[in-house]
Amino acid sequence: PVIHREDYRPPDWLVPDVALDFALDPAATRVTARLSVTRSGAHNRPLRLDGDGLTPLAVRIDGEPQADAWRMDGAALMIDLPGDAHVIETEVEIAPEKNSQLMGLYASGGMLCTQCEPEGFRRITFFPDRPDVLSRYVVRMEADKARFPVLLSNGDRTDGGDLDDGRHWAEWRDPFFKPTYLFALVAADLVANRDSFATRSGKEVELAIWVKPEDLAKTEHAMAALKASMAWDEKAYGREYDLGEFNIVAVADFNFGAMENKSLNIFNSRYILADPDTATDVDYDNVAGVVAHEYFHNWSGNRVTCRDWFQLSLKEGFTVFRDQSFSADQGSAAVKRIEDVRALRASQFPEDAGPLAHPIRPESYMEISNFYTATVYNKGAEVIRMLHTILGADAFRKGSDLYFDRHDGQAATCEDFVTAMEDASGVDLARFRLWYSQAGTPRVTARLEHEPAGGQARLTLEQGVPPTPGQPSKQPMPIPLRVALYGEVTGQTFGGERLVMLEDAHQEILFEGIGERPVLSINRGFSAPVTVVADRSAADLAFLSAQDDDPFARYEAMQQLMVDTLVRAVALGEGDHRPVIEAVQETLRNAALDPAFIAEAVLLPSESFIGDQMPVVDPVAIHLAREALRRDLGQELEDEWRASYAKTHANRYEYTPPAKGLRRLKTVSLGYMAASGAPDASVIAFRQFRDADNMTDRQGALGTLVNSQWAERDEALKLFYDRYRGNDLVIDKWFTTQALSTRDDSVAAVEALAGHGDFTLANPNRVRALVGAFAVNQKGFNDLSGRGYRFLADMVLAVDKLNPQTAAKLIPPLGRWRRFDEARATLMRAELARVLATPGLSKDVFEQASKSLG
Ligand code: ARG
Ligand code: ZN
Repeated sequence: PVIHREDYRPPDWLVPDVALDFALDPAATRVTARLSVTRSGAHNRPLRLDGDGLTPLAVRIDGEPQADAWRMDGAALMIDLPGDAHVIETEVEIAPEKNSQLMGLYASGGMLCTQCEPEGFRRITFFPDRPDVLSRYVVRMEADKARFPVLLSNGDRTDGGDLDDGRHWAEWRDPFFKPTYLFALVAADLVANRDSFATRSGKEVELAIWVKPEDLAKTEHAMAALKASMAWDEKAYGREYDLGEFNIVAVADFNFGAMENKSLNIFNSRYILADPDTATDVDYDNVAGVVAHEYFHNWSGNRVTCRDWFQLSLKEGFTVFRDQSFSADQGSAAVKRIEDVRALRASQFPEDAGPLAHPIRPESYMEISNFYTATVYNKGAEVIRMLHTILGADAFRKGSDLYFDRHDGQAATCEDFVTAMEDASGVDLARFRLWYSQAGTPRVTARLEHEPAGGQARLTLEQGVPPTPGQPSKQPMPIPLRVALYGEVTGQTFGGERLVMLEDAHQEILFEGIGERPVLSINRGFSAPVTVVADRSAADLAFLSAQDDDPFARYEAMQQLMVDTLVRAVALGEGDHRPVIEAVQETLRNAALDPAFIAEAVLLPSESFIGDQMPVVDPVAIHLAREALRRDLGQELEDEWRASYAKTHANRYEYTPPAKGLRRLKTVSLGYMAASGAPDASVIAFRQFRDADNMTDRQGALGTLVNSQWAERDEALKLFYDRYRGNDLVIDKWFTTQALSTRDDSVAAVEALAGHGDFTLANPNRVRALVGAFAVNQKGFNDLSGRGYRFLADMVLAVDKLNPQTAAKLIPPLGRWRRFDEARATLMRAELARVLATPGLSKDVFEQASKSLG
């Protein structure tokens, strides 16, 4: 059954108040729900209460037990009601410890916790499980006090006490109306890192991060990030926290990153726990980013929520934009932008170019869990960023104030957001709305011509949006392009930067007073999520990589130079490496640059990104061409790599932006020293691995060792395993590092690792660490034997039996078959067909596999 956006109908019945009573037990939890329901509008349709795997043990209407006033419609409970307001009570029993889907109420490492977004609440109790039904919740829960001393839910704890038989109870009330997906409950034996935050209006908020006792020392960074987020949202958006308590709980088994349940955020422990010995700088950054993301949802998501799941990007795109802006303010904004664009190109561009392409506001779905995608999240954030660019910071802020004001307490739509921006700014955004309805990455062609005589330059821009499933032809989109022209000789811009709005399929822009040959700098700061094809010579790209005053544009010029070189090398089997080597040398020698920026700028584009630029992906040729360029860069610039390694080596550990930048450059330099084939590289790598006083350096060295044939390689892997055995988050890194190995034996190694005693299908982090990581290993996964594809399909089928959501997320790499040669495409299709032919498939996997096969 396919659900269509166009079919939206407001709810027939509302549930202003709900009281839930949980008699908690991992094996059998009794849930009693009392719903006050009111008829909405004039109709005589029954009350429909969604359920998933629930059997009603009792149904009472206005206090009277009922045997036949209700019926089941599939998994839903239907009740015909005579009046316009009733109290409905239901009782069900659920088994959290048998819940391997990790949706609804489940057990993880001895604790009980919930995940309800998007449709997990219906696995807990019968309810209209849709985000436009908003209720006030009172939650009573009881549990064994010794096993579950901590009992948490949304809002404030209002009562509690001891019971007979060693049990205890607690009552929580959330004064804010919320949809089911924001409900949460935790019963556990945890300790808290406690702190407090004074809001700008002087309210004291009690903060707590709940973890296992042995993890308490790893919560400082998350706590600091939480307080920084609370202050930032007040300053940047005028948004203050609205309750007396804010709790975060870390759990080891979690389908996603984290969840913004009202005042009770539940996190995958990998986005909370961090200390220098076990977390890399990237992990630290991710912890802060996700803590901020979930906190920001309190306004963009909770106070203003989504009318239906087609509006998911309303909260996710906006909240990702907010967390990206927060992180940019904490350190180097330039490096943050480079990282975000790299992530977009790695995950969203392929989605937009493949069989699963969808607009940021999808038109239909079989299973909404499959739409928590890079498109809805990351392209969604780029769309909000474009609004910010087009309207300017002040008008954007007026628009967000109006949006929060107008829709506080409501379930809103993407349209409501754009309308608020329009009303506050006075800017007509009619055509901009195409970004919500059209899928596919626009392709912009730019050509710059100079007439020296008249001192004029003409910029010709053309755009096209490629066809995507269900959308064969597209309209031109409004594309904001930040543009500057640089004088080739003076190195100065002509009049600085300007914002060009490309609205039409074809547009020409005239620049006057251009006295020398201009070099085009375009899509600066990545102002639009598009692919720009501007035929610029290697010399022009080298010039921009050294001169452009927009750091992103500088990075981009270097990337383009590298991509051009590599694409040519793959096509012709050879290439001139000189321009890249000289540009990298210039960047490395530039003492005025931030080391963190240098480290990003000198990295070669990934094998998958190179493949995305080619008509047919040849993973072997791409690997060889890229390795050849890496080797030449390593050899030709050996002195520079050694110098930058030496400069960064003595740096004492601290988690600050400058120290992070030095560590990044250190490991990048190590990689090039290894690529050069220098005889002492193995010794240097092993020394870095062994002597590191932090995980960034240790894992950085291990990442170099693991690709090598050196004797030290296996020893390092063993030392790493022995040192961290039992620490799940670090053992995940051990799996991932090997899954990403570029050695010829990586397929065999990954198959063997799936049989390792520490591998389990039950923990999503572990599945992603091995299987998810291997699927992005271009060389290993695309091995011509087809073993990589077969392994992935085997894993999809095995995981689907336990956890359909996690299984479905593994499928997209197989859907890229159209991009490959006939032999590989045939193998990939065969695996998708095998998955589809398997009986008992979840609808999550069915939707992804059938769309991927096409
Ligand atoms: N709203 C959460 C976040 O982005 C993600 C929850 C997704 N859950 C899921 N089962 N797909 O912060
Ligand atoms: Zn989110």
